[in-house]
Amino acid sequence: MIYNETMQSILARRSYKVFDSKPIDDENLETIITAGLYAPTGMNRQPWHFTVIKSEEGLARFAQARRSLPLPPGIPPEAAARFGDPMRNAPVMILVSAKEGGTSFEDSCLAMENMFIAAASFGIMSGWDHATVKDLFNHDPELKKELIPEGYVLYAAAFFGYPGPEVKDRGERKGTVQYI
Ligand SMILES: Cc1cc2nc3c(=O)[nH]c(=O)nc-3n(C[C@H](O)[C@H](O)[C@H](O)COP(=O)(O)O)c2cc1C
Repeated sequence: MIYNETMQSILARRSYKVFDSKPIDDENLETIITAGLYAPTGMNRQPWHFTVIKSEEGLARFAQARRSLPLPPGIPPEAAARFGDPMRNAPVMILVSAKEGGTSFEDSCLAMENMFIAAASFGIMSGWDHATVKDLFNHDPELKKELIPEGYVLYAAAFFGYPGPEVKDRGERKGTVQYI
């Protein structure tokens, strides 16, 4: 394998459930977002809208909604502690929404992955937040109005921050690959 800077960032990226509260500086954040904006999109539609939540008030409002989301079905309340704080102590949350239709879903996910890799190149890690994508705006439609443009659908949501104390080793990748 050729181990250049891009490969180092791809291999260094890990999903985190707990972040350090150290802020992400604006230049790093802007670069991460630029990486997202340069992702490919079907027919170059660039159908998305990026919502970057980083202010104290913005994070507090998001946290209030995020914490009031019910636990996934089947999780008894006494086991809730195991899930920790849904905000993960992260200083930045990025949402990618787009008008429904065409390749909006794929475009949004590709943008998020570009941002994950750019972030990893600065030692900033990320964490996809499936519960936000799936349920948050159904649970809190007012928040949807505050955070994404009218008529848009949320396709990707992730936390960004410097890694917390957990050590990540998810082992070797064993995906099946076939060369023809
Ligand atoms: C579509 C999708 C949804 C995910 N949802 C969550 C989630 O809700 N919470 C979470 O902590 N991690 C979530 N993850 C992160 C995965 O658990 C993680 O990518 C996987 O375990 C591999 O680890 P790595 O990202 O560190 O390589 C999600 C990843 C994807 C691609």
